Amino acid sequence: MILKRILLGISGGIAAYKSAELLRLLVKQGYDVRVVMTLAATRFVTPLTFQALSGYPVHTQLLDESQENAMGHINLARWADVFLIAPASANSIAKFSHGLANDLLSTLYLAAECPVYIAPAMNQAMWHKAVTQENIQHLTQHGVNFIGPEAGSQACGDTGLGRMSEPENIVQELEALNAPKILHGKKILITAGPTREALDPVRYLTNRSSGKMGYALAEQARQLGAEVTLISGPVHLAVIKNVKIHLVESAADMYAAVMREIATQDIMIAAAAVADYTPATLQVEKIKKQGEQTQLNLQRTTDIVASVARLSDRPYTVGFAAETQDLAQYAQDKLQRKNLDMIAANWVGQAEGGFDSDLNALHVYWDNGEKSFKMTDKLQLAKQLLTLIAERLNAESTT
Ligand code: PMT
Repeated sequence: MILKRILLGISGGIAAYKSAELLRLLVKQGYDVRVVMTLAATRFVTPLTFQALSGYPVHTQLLDESQENAMGHINLARWADVFLIAPASANSIAKFSHGLANDLLSTLYLAAECPVYIAPAMNQAMWHKAVTQENIQHLTQHGVNFIGPEAGSQACGDTGLGRMSEPENIVQELEALNAPKILHGKKILITAGPTREALDPVRYLTNRSSGKMGYALAEQARQLGAEVTLISGPVHLAVIKNVKIHLVESAADMYAAVMREIATQDIMIAAAAVADYTPATLQVEKIKKQGEQTQLNLQRTTDIVASVARLSDRPYTVGFAAETQDLAQYAQDKLQRKNLDMIAANWVGQAEGGFDSDLNALHVYWDNGEKSFKMTDKLQLAKQLLTLIAERLNAESTT
């Protein structure tokens, strides 16, 4: 079933300003959204803002004759496919947990029979308070889904857990509900990001990979129903909910982590930019300046994806190829040489796409086949690639 009608509840807190962006993104994604605000929320952002963004009057009163005629609170709860409360204050959460119904928002919670998603936002001390955690546990036991909160600096000056999740992350959670589960039952291992090869205690060799491509694959694979293990080099990206993650540093660490997990995997996607060479010896002390020129003695790292492809009981193995010239030729060569099932080639070092960009384009090759995906954002591209992998996997298992 496609869930398209969202009832967005907004409770009182400074994070209510983020709900305007959340609403804009939901409408952009094609959701039909109706907004309910507590009176406290209307003190932070006016209902007119949400009316303009949703295209519908905002509901604020439990007993409002005009609104009862248009759509009473029971009807509003029945209308929704999903009830999303963002931000949810500690007070609203406590009311939901204890079954209070003394305003429109809490009454709607009691009346709603659809899935409920709550994005809490509050001061970090309030979040950690035992009674808040008990309320959350209680609601979780009753099937309520929580999105966030995230850690960071707070409007009150504190730092810690309690910030409302970013609107993009909340939309992704809802999108996951609607994604066709074409990878249900599959275990996918994904490598992402760069590796760091230490020269001495203060220096290392690395590359420009941000991890965005690999993390996008992990996020989308999860949305498509897969059980995902992410082996990530050092990046500055937020962790992905419901994805098992191993944080590693060097190519040798990445190899070890992959080999620990690979036996149970159905698919491996190697999106990491793994160093091909590592310093032959790690200097224990900081290397001192000597003369005008110096040389580094490097040795080859183990090729992780090729090692996986050599296993007797191997998963469907997909490599990436990052090239600055002759993309098709080098990619097809790697497909053969590393004995891969598929290779996704991308240009790097160009103005658009590749390393550390939100965008990318891919030219994908497999035995007797190829497909190109145009420049688009990495999340979209990841979905296209995973859909192709699922199709190829099905095609190969039926031949
Ligand atoms: O991280 P982003 O900033 O989002 O950028 C994305 C990306 C450009 C890094 C990504 O799309 C990509 O191309 N990843 C592979 C980069 C790379 O190392 O390509 P390569 O052509 O050098 O390697 C070929 C394949 O062998 C890759 O799948 C690589 O993961 C794998 N490899 C390489 C060396 C090694 N020792 N072990 C490996 O598994």
